Amino acid sequence: MHKPIEKITEEDAKEELRRLAELIAYHDRLYYLEDQPEISDADYDALRLRNAALEKKFPHLIREDSPNLRVGAPLLGPFKKVQHRKEMLSLDNGFEDQDVHDFMERIRRFLNIPPETPIELVAEPKIDGLSATLEYQKGLFVLGATRGDGTEGEDITENLKTLKDIPALIAAQDFPNVTEIRGEVYMRHEDFLAMNQEREAQGQPFFANPRNAAAGSVRQLDSSVTAKRPLKFFAYACDEYAPFHVKTHWEFLEKLKEWGFVVNPLAKLCSTVDEVLAYYHELESKRTTLPYDIDGIVYKVNRIDWQNRMGSSTRAPRWALAHKFPAEQAQTHLNDILIQVGRTGALTPVAILQPVTVGGVVVSRASLHNEDEIARKDVRVGDTVVIQRAGDVIPQVVRVVGEKRGSDSHPFSFPHTCPVCGSHAVRLPGEVARKCIGGLICGAQAALRLRHFVSRDAFDIEGFGSKHVEAFYKEGLIHSPADIFTLEERDRQSLTPLRNREGWGDLSAKNLFKAIASRRKIPLHRFIYALGIPQVGQATAKLLARHYVSYEMWQEAMRAAKNPENEAYIDLMSIDGVGPSVSADLIAFFDEPHNREVLASLLKEVTVVDEKPLAASSSIFANKTIVFTGALTHMTRVEAKVRAEALGAKVASSVSAKTDYVVVGEDPGSKAKSAKELGVPILTEEEWLKAARGL
Ligand code: IVH
Repeated sequence: MHKPIEKITEEDAKEELRRLAELIAYHDRLYYLEDQPEISDADYDALRLRNAALEKKFPHLIREDSPNLRVGAPLLGPFKKVQHRKEMLSLDNGFEDQDVHDFMERIRRFLNIPPETPIELVAEPKIDGLSATLEYQKGLFVLGATRGDGTEGEDITENLKTLKDIPALIAAQDFPNVTEIRGEVYMRHEDFLAMNQEREAQGQPFFANPRNAAAGSVRQLDSSVTAKRPLKFFAYACDEYAPFHVKTHWEFLEKLKEWGFVVNPLAKLCSTVDEVLAYYHELESKRTTLPYDIDGIVYKVNRIDWQNRMGSSTRAPRWALAHKFPAEQAQTHLNDILIQVGRTGALTPVAILQPVTVGGVVVSRASLHNEDEIARKDVRVGDTVVIQRAGDVIPQVVRVVGEKRGSDSHPFSFPHTCPVCGSHAVRLPGEVARKCIGGLICGAQAALRLRHFVSRDAFDIEGFGSKHVEAFYKEGLIHSPADIFTLEERDRQSLTPLRNREGWGDLSAKNLFKAIASRRKIPLHRFIYALGIPQVGQATAKLLARHYVSYEMWQEAMRAAKNPENEAYIDLMSIDGVGPSVSADLIAFFDEPHNREVLASLLKEVTVVDEKPLAASSSIFANKTIVFTGALTHMTRVEAKVRAEALGAKVASSVSAKTDYVVVGEDPGSKAKSAKELGVPILTEEEWLKAARGL
């Protein structure tokens, strides 16, 4: 690698090009797909430059899989997208024992379970792999998919067919006709180590940890490669329990075993918090001796009727909790503090560390959060620091090891200017972040916004990785999102078309334009998320999209909501998960003339597809406003609200002419009276229950 190009022999060049192709593909994957780069941009560029130089000197050695002939990480795609029939949810996390007590209390309150009635929980190790869903039709395994964003995953059927733990055919009479079995693909430690040793012997780059190895292995284009990887699968869930005719999760797990799935043998049925916690602490101490990685324990309410009553938030079921193990820690030297500028202009300090292994992963950067954190922990360049990794979370600097501080150290002074554009960086009252006020003139912000715009969960423009976005931005080819869609047209008239540029060719340029063109139609939730409005992540974008259904309705409402007296504001705040702070950011976004210009030119290029309304149900309560009053006897108020919302209704707290139904429990107060006066239909609790069940 360090031999000067002039002196390299053809044979060495051939070998080095092979190695570089693999190495760059590996880093591309970390960068583009896993968002977890292991090397600095400069080191990455050096690899690419070296590759380009070798190819220039030995053009006849250019490989079919040369990194120069492709963009992004095509080795691992494209896989067909699969819409999950039922969303693949995540889990709420707990860290302390108290969180588990709180979880149990929440269940009791929600379902109104008296203290003397035990609540059974199934405790299962939380496998640190990647989740997958397996669709069976008439007993045949027909479709396997990754979780993706929870709504849409990727078709990896052929690869999953190579796993011995996944039955290809289930002949049992009682196996449902159509169902999805869900679980975790993982790799055992010994298999992982053996595989890495083999890779090392063959000069291939090795995987950082079993999870990455499993993820890389199921996303191979060639399933014969996957077949050689030692992948395993634990089954632990399904899309819907109904067709299984079981009353408890425990029974469900028993059935899975009968049908030939592998269920984690450590799963345990518990009936008290103490039992659950004893199990947790036992496994925590055994953790390092287990043959595979686990990052916590998952508790699930055993009774399925209770699970159904509790339901889910947009993110996670209310009947389950992931109790995470404490993060693994390590000590290392803090070489430098780098200031990065984010999409919103926030200056974020990053710790540049002497690389160290924490929990099986080499860490060379860690988050320092913000100015106050640095001051509070008194972190200084040159310190020895304790860092920790908690699951997928970016490593953090926990504290400074005071005894190891040198005498010449001095406090870190946080810059008051933007390191990228030189503008002032100011801190507004009440904000933790110091922000660059450069706005559009700040290259860091604009490029990052564009990068977010094309990213996987937003416009998902394949092959348009951050390197290209940044390069195009710097060259002035794209400044705002709409420019992406006019790129091809302008390229046609350009004297320096893309295909002639370094690192591009006819095919890669065509592919990029094709990828862009295929995204001219976009679902509303992706569109909203792509705009990069502060605090509007994927979950909020989905909530908004389902609530407002069309782009026109949404933007009209956001403008009207500027006036807090306006109904639009009240309506916005009524969305579960949208509070005053998120509302303020949404309103501010639409209030900014520049943003409106950006939107207007973007909408000339793309079509935003309407969302399915929240009330997908045919219930009589769909799109109706319900008020509950008086004490309900069959369910708690929270449960009633959740159930009404699941049927597509809005739940309001006071009765007005806009109320569609008032449900009265025992001892109703003035609300029942006003309902009568206003002529709003009144339902008893029994009538509501019947109607809610669709009887
Ligand atoms: S249940 C609706 N059980 O943890 C509940 N998840 O943080 C679905 N995971 O995406 C998940 N072991 O990939 C469940 N025994 C287990 C699990 C488990 C690992 C993963 C799964 C999920 C993630 C959520």
